[in-house]
Amino acid sequence: MGHCLRFFYLLWLGLVIPLYALAAPAFEDSMAQRALACTACHGAQGRAGPDGYYPRLAGKPAGYLYRQLRNFREGRRHYAPMTSLLDTLDDAYLQELASYFSALSLPYPAPRPSASSAQELEQARRLVQQGDAARGLPACTQCHGLLLTGVNPATPGLLGLPADYLNAQLGGWQTGQRHADAPDCMAHIARLLSANETSAIARWLSAQALPPNTQAAARRPTATAATLALQCGSDLPLTAAGAVPFVASTTLSDPATRGAYLARMGNCAGCHSARGGMAYAGGRAVDTPFGSIFSSNLTPDPLHGIGLWSADDFWQALHQGISKDGHALYPAFPYTSYTRIGRADSDALFAFLKTLPAASVAPTAHRLRWPYNTQLALKTWRTLFFTPSATQSTGATAGPAADPVLQRGAYLVQGLGHCMECHGSRNALGALSGDASGALLPGSLWWAPSLSDPGGAAGWSEAELAAFLQTGRNDRAQASGPMAEVVLHSTQYLSDADALAMARYLRAMAQRAPSTLATPSPSAAAGASRKPQQGARLYEKHCADCHGAQGQGRAGVYPALAGNHAVNQLLPNNLIHSLMEGGFGAATHANPRPYGMPPFMLQLSDADMAALLSFIRSAWGNQGATVSEFDINKFRRTQLP
Ligand code: HEC
Ligand code: HEC
Ligand code: HEC
Ligand code: HEC
Ligand code: HEC
Repeated sequence: MGHCLRFFYLLWLGLVIPLYALAAPAFEDSMAQRALACTACHGAQGRAGPDGYYPRLAGKPAGYLYRQLRNFREGRRHYAPMTSLLDTLDDAYLQELASYFSALSLPYPAPRPSASSAQELEQARRLVQQGDAARGLPACTQCHGLLLTGVNPATPGLLGLPADYLNAQLGGWQTGQRHADAPDCMAHIARLLSANETSAIARWLSAQALPPNTQAAARRPTATAATLALQCGSDLPLTAAGAVPFVASTTLSDPATRGAYLARMGNCAGCHSARGGMAYAGGRAVDTPFGSIFSSNLTPDPLHGIGLWSADDFWQALHQGISKDGHALYPAFPYTSYTRIGRADSDALFAFLKTLPAASVAPTAHRLRWPYNTQLALKTWRTLFFTPSATQSTGATAGPAADPVLQRGAYLVQGLGHCMECHGSRNALGALSGDASGALLPGSLWWAPSLSDPGGAAGWSEAELAAFLQTGRNDRAQASGPMAEVVLHSTQYLSDADALAMARYLRAMAQRAPSTLATPSPSAAAGASRKPQQGARLYEKHCADCHGAQGQGRAGVYPALAGNHAVNQLLPNNLIHSLMEGGFGAATHANPRPYGMPPFMLQLSDADMAALLSFIRSAWGNQGATVSEFDINKFRRTQLP
């Protein structure tokens, strides 16, 4: 299929582009094109949506926008559709998006006359321009600039914004919904205001005309006593709390350096860092069908972390799933895979963790239902389903035959990389059955596809598999959602030798498993043709600009939907996720500025989405089964608040 498609694609590139260029808006390799996923909500060029619910981005200070993007990704601000878009992007790319929107200079909308009484407005004006010394409230102009157009680098302007938006943001600080970098001066200020004052200020601000120069000022006016007493975290340099030192080589002899690489491969930070918390300080929930289990603090803190642990204690946890004090650990900590980690690698990981700054973060109590919250239940489970791996010493002995590359691949896939923890099927008690035939991820509807199906990824070439893991994409597929996060935090750092070893082992798995890919049933095919016109029409309108009139995509930019692996999966789950939530590919060294797909959940009805997905699953030679309105509806109910 791949070759034939590529051939078709070359033909299309060579012959048809001039016609296509006449018919559709020209594609450009630009930030504007990349940010189409953002402007779907924020309005063309980030000028704000028509109803004022989506804030303007254009022209706001870049430092401010950047901090907001981090705030959403790290859980200090809450808007789920934005957070899920940002989860696969790194800081460098967020900075670029911020600079792009900041540099746009667009006219502001005319001020909206306010319905408030003159007395209310005058009171609001006084608070904004003079503050209230009696309660220690500085004038808003002290920080937001005398003209209220903001102050670089990180204080936004307050004019030209809808009153509803301003009111909601101040309310967010009052109720603890919105946070800024600590110390959060705005939380303090917002809580000094009564509800009436807050809405009067919002209405007064939105009724003001903008000055001719709308640029943010270079510096703040001279401080008064009230502002001097208040520090804003956004004036402080950013600490890279989430950043983890990285070294790309496994051959380095220094154990801590090797350990840093191994920790990437095991994605320890992915589970052991809470959103917005310090790296490795624990507290992130791992959802299971039995409840939520919170990860431990792995920093060298003596009280809450592993500061007092020995290398033997650490090895016991990884190899046997037993903590230092002897209690059994829950397999949400994937020691069911890590038990294959060798002693030398365990010691290297331990040496690396010891180099981290200690974080005094107390553990979060697990939230499990009875009887799963008892050590007895856990011990029974372990007796039934867990045996520590017999191969321990070198970490390179697991796996078939004697080929050292295959052995290394088996070790990385089955052990350190713990790929089966998502891709392996499980029994009703959550135990891995040992095959890689695919599984639903708990807590979401994402489907991690089979890794052993010869018709699936295991049938890709070694180069294609390695590219998928190291860059997040290849000619056939694109890593999305949870897999894009695995690529972002872990597999993009694979050395070439390790990527090749994994690819070879994944291909070897295919030879041992029968195909489980669905052959479409006649009834499904009949269903697909029920509303083909509606689906085709919606596709033409909403999707063809990016994915191409014939679903051919654009190489390296927009995935082809014709012959697309995800489109033809038996379960439509991942397609529904992509369509509803949109998403960016992972930002990787090889592809640092991925393009984005806008979320459609707010734009399209369940019936429209069902018709659209059924259409793309049956068009252009695709063979997926119909998607029903019920599938979409079920999804909405489980995913959305
Ligand atoms: C589904 C609609 C949607 C999409 C898509 C979206 N946003 Fe937002 N964005 C919002 C909403 C709503 C808010 C305001 C949330 C709140 O009230 O805190 C917001 C807030 C923001 C803010 C804070 C603005 C301010 O002045 O404080 C920034 C910055 C931002 N978005 C950037 C982006 C970027 C960059 C993208 C693309 C990667 C994006 N958004 C995609 C809906 C969206
Ligand atoms: C001590 C400095 C300071 C003072 C005084 C101050 N602000 Fe702020 N304000 C900030 C900073 C810094 C931010 C950016 C916070 C962040 O990074 O989220 C901000 C953000 C805001 C925002 C969010 C804007 C947006 O686009 O989302 C609003 C609204 C706001 N301030 C209103 C006010 C009002 C009203 C007053 C006066 C009653 C005021 N501020 C006084 C420093 C200040
Ligand atoms: C899929 C999520 C996940 C990943 C990936 C993960 N852990 Fe954990 N880990 C957990 C959870 C959850 C716990 C808590 C288990 C419990 O309390 O029963 C834990 C516990 C531990 C413990 C026991 C701590 C204690 O106080 O007993 C150690 C040691 C540990 N992890 C090390 C690692 C290392 C090293 C890596 C990377 C190679 C790693 N973990 C990767 C989820 C994860
Ligand atoms: C946190 C869960 C999780 C982990 C861990 C994980 N995956 Fe995935 N993987 C997924 C999901 C979900 C998808 C489907 C989304 C997509 O296609 O990107 C996926 C897709 C894939 C695909 C594309 C499959 C196809 O048929 O299109 C490959 C290949 C893959 N993963 C390999 C791996 C390897 C190798 C590892 C171990 C290093 C791994 N995954 C670890 C969740 C995970
Ligand atoms: C602005 C360009 C753009 C538009 C418009 C767009 N997409 Fe996408 N689409 C993308 C990008 C970029 C990706 C890759 C994102 C990722 O990896 O998560 C993608 C991914 C997908 C995927 C997942 C493919 C895979 O390999 O996992 C599907 C399915 C999809 N789009 C369907 C649609 C449909 C249906 C529409 C119309 C309703 C649409 N897209 C509109 C840019 C777009």
